[in-house]
Amino acid sequence: MSTSTVLERTAPLYAKVRSVIPPIEWPVFADDIEAILALKRERDAVILAHNYMTPEIFHCVADIVGDSLALAREAMKVDAKVIVLAGVHFMAETAKMLNPRKTVLIPDVEAGCSLASSITAADVRLMRARYPGVPVVTYVNSTADVKAESDICCTSGNALKIVESLGVPEVIMLPDEFLAQNIAKQTKVKIIAWAGHCEVHERFTAAEVRTLRADHPGVVILAHPECPPEVVAEADYAGSTADMLAYVGREQPKRVVLLTECSMADNISVHHPNVDFVRPCNLCPHMKRITLPKIRRALETMTHEVTIDPALAVRARMSVERMLAVK
Ligand code: 13P
Ligand code: SF4
Repeated sequence: MSTSTVLERTAPLYAKVRSVIPPIEWPVFADDIEAILALKRERDAVILAHNYMTPEIFHCVADIVGDSLALAREAMKVDAKVIVLAGVHFMAETAKMLNPRKTVLIPDVEAGCSLASSITAADVRLMRARYPGVPVVTYVNSTADVKAESDICCTSGNALKIVESLGVPEVIMLPDEFLAQNIAKQTKVKIIAWAGHCEVHERFTAAEVRTLRADHPGVVILAHPECPPEVVAEADYAGSTADMLAYVGREQPKRVVLLTECSMADNISVHHPNVDFVRPCNLCPHMKRITLPKIRRALETMTHEVTIDPALAVRARMSVERMLAVK
């Protein structure tokens, strides 16, 4: 297909993202987008994309977008034969364990997560030995092996509800220390944490928040709960990426800062042209490994397929399903 035909066919998609993608960059994306849309039909595939994907992925090729919780819920319902997970490895593993008959592809196997790599299954067993009888609540940002050793999972969108649903005085919460500390401030349940951190959110500081307020009077500051507690304390609101999106939609702040990964503000701003997004953000090097050419290649070659040992998958799935059952 000629370049001008591709540009003509993708023009309605460009109209959606023109505020965040300069016209000079679009021809580079358009060819891959056109190819990916055709490959999805050919392979009977759907693309699930996390909120941190870049706008050309998020707005132009994804079928389902959302935070970790929404992606897990939606993965269970997928009817198509193939799921391409535009996100990091633990998200693809979660999709596979929840919908094991589907072929789940991740466009780059190196798309990891500093939280997931901060803890092993053996570490969880050691924590259990140290705190006998204390239930283990594991953040979904973890490997299938770690989920398999846990009692229940949580995400940033439901962590408080999950901790309180257990009806116990004490829980072990792994592996995000800051999420655990932020939840501990909202509950009477005693929380034993692990020292894992998100390399994106740990870099925000309380001093940075104060400078933002001084430089942008009236700005509303939203923080992800993976940020350090002193950052969350200085913010106006803390919530998952889906909670931030809902907050902006509901409150329509004149000016807002999202203390999270950079693509978040780009993706939301497309729908809220009247909101001024101040953008002090941090890039996630793992999320940024997922690109249009890699999604295209994944569908062309049907790689990289995510597999989990079936016995392990059953145990890991139980932790995720217990989470999804909490209303
Ligand atoms: P949520 O989208 O669930 O808030 O997660 C943020 C994150 O860091 C995922 O890796
Ligand atoms: Fe992991 Fe943080 Fe990147 Fe999310 S943003 S994938 S938690 S390193």
